[in-house]
Amino acid sequence: MLELKNISFQVDSEGKGKEIIRNISMTVPDRKLIVVTGPNGGGKSTLAKLIAGIEKPTGGRIFFGGEDITDKSITERARMGIGYAFQQPVRFKGIRVLDLIRIAAGKSLTIAEACEYLSSVGLCARDYVDREVNASLSGGELKRIEIATVLARNAKLSVFDEPEAGIDLWSFRNLIDVFRRMRETIKDSSILIISHQERILNIADEIIVIKDGVVDRQGLRDEVYPSLNAGTAALASMECEGQIRAMGPEGGAE
Ligand SMILES: Nc1ncnc2c1ncn2[C@@H]1O[C@H](COP(=O)(O)OP(=O)(O)O)[C@@H](O)[C@H]1O
Ligand SMILES: [Mg+2]
Repeated sequence: MLELKNISFQVDSEGKGKEIIRNISMTVPDRKLIVVTGPNGGGKSTLAKLIAGIEKPTGGRIFFGGEDITDKSITERARMGIGYAFQQPVRFKGIRVLDLIRIAAGKSLTIAEACEYLSSVGLCARDYVDREVNASLSGGELKRIEIATVLARNAKLSVFDEPEAGIDLWSFRNLIDVFRRMRETIKDSSILIISHQERILNIADEIIVIKDGVVDRQGLRDEVYPSLNAGTAALASMECEGQIRAMGPEGGAE
C-alpha cells in the first residue's frame, strides 16, 4: 500500500514560490487499480514523480508498505517495488530492447518471454528485440517499450503516466486488455494509472481527480465516474473545470 500524507511540492518560479502540489493525502491500497485524472497542468505528472522519487516533496511524508520512503532515492524505491513509466519516454544509448526488458524483469528471460511483453503493447516483437533503444525509434515505439519494461518488472506498485499518449488506437485497445488482465491477476500489488481515457477510467476501482494541485474528488469508480461523463477528453479543457467545480468538493468522496 502506498500512502501520501499531506504532500506539498513547491518550486521557485521567477523568484516566487509556486505550489504545484498542495497538501495532497491519498492512498493506493493493495490489489486495487487507481486512476488519477483531471485537467492538464493540475499536477498529476508531478505527483507520479514524487511517488517515484524523481522529485522530493517540500512537505509531507510518503509511506510504502508502512515504511517511510520520503527520503529514499529513485533506485531504492525501484528496489522496494515501485515501477514507473514516464509520460515522456527516455532513450538509452547502446542498449537493445531485449536488454532493457531483461534488466526490468531482473532475471534471465528467454527471447520468447521478452517478446510476449512487447506483443502485449502492440509491437511485433521479433522486429524489435534486437533493436537499439536510440533515436531511430519513434516516440510512440519508445513509449510502448517503456510500458513493456514496467510490465516485465512486475512491481508491487506500477505507475503509468498517460500510457495512451502517442499510441495508436489498435495498440491502445491491446493495452487496455493488458491492464485489465493485470487487474484480474493482481495479488499483493497495485496499479496507478494517470489517464484521461474513458476506457481506462472504466476499469478503475477508484478514481482520484487532481485539479490545481489538490484532490478535487476521490472515490469508487461508480461514484466519481458519472460526474465525469461529459467525456474524459473534455476533462483536459477549461469547460469541464467549471463542471467539476459545480459538483462541489465533497460529493462522492469516500
Ligand atoms: N519543476 C517545475 N518547475 C516549475 N513548474 C513546474 C515544474 N514541474 C511542473 N511544473 C508546473 O506545475 C504544473 C503541473 O504540472 P504537471 O504535474 O505536469 O501537470 P499534469 O501532469 O496534471 O498536466 C504545471 O503548471 C507545470 O507547468
Ligand atoms: Mg502530465
